[in-house]
Amino acid sequence: MNPEINKRIAQLRAEIERHNHAYYVLDAPVIPDAEYDKLFRELQSLEAQHPELSTPDSPTRRVGGKALDGFAPVRHAVAMLSIRTETDISDTGAIVFDARVRKELGLGENDAPIEYACELKFDGLAINLRYERGVLVQAATRGDGETGEDVTQNVRTIHYIPLHLKGCAAEVLEVRGEVYMSRRDFERYNERQRAQGLPTLVNPRNGAAGSIRQLDPALAARRPLSFFAYGLGEARGWASPATHNAVLDALGKMGVPVSDERAVVRGAEGLVNFHQHIAAKRDQLPFDIDGVVYKVNSLALQAELGFVSREPRWAVAHKYPAEEQLTVVRDIDIQVGRTGKLTPVAKLEPVFVGGTTVSNATLHNEDETRRKDVRIGDTVIVRRAGDVIPEVVGVVLDPSIAQGERKEDGRFDLFERLHGKCPVCGSAIVREEGEADWRCTGGLFCPAQRMQALLHFASRRAMDIEGLGDKLAEQLVEQQIVRTPADLYKLSMTAVASLERMGEKSALNLLDAIERSKRTTLARFIYALGIRNVGEATAKDLAQHFGSLDNLLAADAESLQQVHDVGPVVAQSLVAFLAEAHNREVIAQLRASGVHWSEHEQRRMVELPFSGKTFVLTGTLDSMTRDEAKEKLEALGAKVSGSVSKKTGYVVAGAEAGSKLDRAHELGVAVLDEDGLMQLLNQVK
Ligand code: IVH
Repeated sequence: MNPEINKRIAQLRAEIERHNHAYYVLDAPVIPDAEYDKLFRELQSLEAQHPELSTPDSPTRRVGGKALDGFAPVRHAVAMLSIRTETDISDTGAIVFDARVRKELGLGENDAPIEYACELKFDGLAINLRYERGVLVQAATRGDGETGEDVTQNVRTIHYIPLHLKGCAAEVLEVRGEVYMSRRDFERYNERQRAQGLPTLVNPRNGAAGSIRQLDPALAARRPLSFFAYGLGEARGWASPATHNAVLDALGKMGVPVSDERAVVRGAEGLVNFHQHIAAKRDQLPFDIDGVVYKVNSLALQAELGFVSREPRWAVAHKYPAEEQLTVVRDIDIQVGRTGKLTPVAKLEPVFVGGTTVSNATLHNEDETRRKDVRIGDTVIVRRAGDVIPEVVGVVLDPSIAQGERKEDGRFDLFERLHGKCPVCGSAIVREEGEADWRCTGGLFCPAQRMQALLHFASRRAMDIEGLGDKLAEQLVEQQIVRTPADLYKLSMTAVASLERMGEKSALNLLDAIERSKRTTLARFIYALGIRNVGEATAKDLAQHFGSLDNLLAADAESLQQVHDVGPVVAQSLVAFLAEAHNREVIAQLRASGVHWSEHEQRRMVELPFSGKTFVLTGTLDSMTRDEAKEKLEALGAKVSGSVSKKTGYVVAGAEAGSKLDRAHELGVAVLDEDGLMQLLNQVK
C-alpha cells in the first residue's frame, strides 16, 4: 500500500465532504462546480486504480450506483416500533399521557413531576441507519417493524446523512430518524419539474417516501432530502448516556442532524406548554410536522415502563390538526387576479383542514388542473399548510375511497369554460406562448385589475401623480369613486376630502397633483396605460416612431413591428389592447379631460418665453375659458398650477376671483386682470 496515495485519498475525501456540506446543507458553495468536479474525478480514479482503498463511506458512494431490481429485505436487530397517537388535539392529550405514565410508575400526587424530552413529529419516512465502527454500512426502511427494505444506495445520496460518525468507533450504533423533504426543496423541485413538463410531487412526505423507495439511485439523488435523528436501534460497544435528550446531544456531536426544536420539560404543564409553543410556530417551520412527540427522558424509567402491544408506554405522539383532508369538488370557478391572471379555483364541499374550514382551493393554472385532471364531482385531497393558500393536491380515483363516479367528459378547459371572455369584465382572454397562465386583456378597464392599473397609471415614471399611493388607490377603487384612470380627472374636492386619512390640505395637494399630471409626454401616457409587455422603453420607442397618439391608434400588427424592439409578442399585446372598445373609450376620456402633450415639449420648453414661470388662473375670463387660457400659456412654456405660493409668477384674476386672489395679495405675487393677460400674450407673440 502506497502511503502517499492513501494520504491523498483521505485528503480528497475530507475536502469533498466539506464542499458537499457547504453546497447541500449550508446552500453556500465555496468553490466553483468545475473545481469540485476535478477533485471528485481525481478521487474516483484513485479508488478505481486501488480498489483495496475504496470504502463504503467515501463521498464517491453518494452518487448512487446501478439501478436495482428490487430492495433486499433487512431484518431489524431491534424491532422498529411505532408510538401511540393521542388523537385528542387539545391540551388534554398531554395531561392524560402524564397521568398514565405516573400511574404505571406507581407515583402519587406528592411525588416529583416527571421529566420529559419533547420533540417534533416529523412527517416523512422512518429510516434505520446502521453504523459499524462509525461507518454507515446499511440503511433500511421500517417495513412491518421486524423486516424492512435495504435502501442503502438511495440513503447514501442524502448529503445530510453522515457516511461516518465523528468520534464514534462503537462496534454497532443504529441511528433512527426521519427522512423528510423541506418545504422549500419541495417547492423548488416541483417548480423545476413543472418547467420541464415532468410530473410533480404531491406533498413533501410523498416526496421523501417515494424518493427512498426509488429503484434508480441516480433519480433518488436528484431529490433534495433531509434527515433528523430521534432515537437509537441496536447499540453495541457504546457507553450510552442516562437520558434520551443526552443521546440526541451525543448524536448531534457525531455529525448526525438533530432538530434544535426540542426541550426537556417537567410534568403535564411542561408538555402542554411545548405543544402550544410549537403550534404557534408550526407555520414558520421549514418543514411539515404533524404533531409533537413526548418521551420519558430517563432511559432507566423507559426500561421500567416497557411496552404494550408493540408500543412503548413511555412515548406518545400528540397531533395537530391535519393539513390534508379528502373532500369533493362542487364546481371550478375562475378568479381574476390583480394582474389579470386567471386562476382556476375549486369550490369544495367545506372541510376542516389545517385548523380552519376550507371551501375554496387553488388549482394554480390550466396546466396544473389538467395534469392533475381535476373534474367537477371528483374526490380530492386538499392541503392547507401554514398560512399558505389551500390547494388541491390531487384526485382520488380509488373507488373504495372516492365518493361517487367521475364525469367521463369533464376534462377541464379554461377557454371553453369562459367562452374566451374574462368572467369579470368580458374582455378577451389570452395565453401567450411559453406562459402558464391565461390573462384578461381588460387591463385598466377590468374591475379586478383597477387598483393595480390605477397605481401604475399614477406611478412616478407614468403620469407621476404624487400622493396617490396604495391606501388611497384602494379606497378610491373600493368605494367605486374611480373606475378608470379617466375618473381621476373628475374627482371633486368633497369626494377626496371624505376619504379616510384625508384632510383638506392633502386633498388639495392630491387634486393639484392630478391637475399637474395632465401635462405629460406621449411616451409617459402610453406607458401609463399599462398595456401588457409595454414597458417604459417600448413606450418611448412607440412615441418616437408614431409621433402622435392618433397614428399609434391607427396602427396594425404589421406597422407596429416596424418599431425598434417591437416583436410579434409586444405587437400582439398592443393590438389586443386597442381592439377593446372600452380601452379606446378610456383614452378618449383622458384626452377630453385635458391630458395632453406636445412631442417636442422637452426640447422647446427652455426656449419658450414663459419657461420656468408659474401661472395661477382664477375667476372667469370674458374672451376665453380658463382651459383655453391655460393651453395658450402652456404653449408658451408656462406651468399652470391650481394653488398660489411664493413661487407663483402671476395670478390671473378674472371676474369673481376668490381666495386665490387674496392669497396672491398676501404673498405679494403679481396679479394680472384679463387685459393684463392679453397684453402679456401679445407682447411675446
Ligand atoms: S419515536 C419507539 N420520535 O412517527 C419510538 N418517532 O409511530 C419510535 N416520527 O413512523 C418512534 N418524528 O418515523 C419518534 N420525534 C420522533 C418522531 C417519530 C416522527 C415517526 C416515526 C414513526 C412514527 C411513530
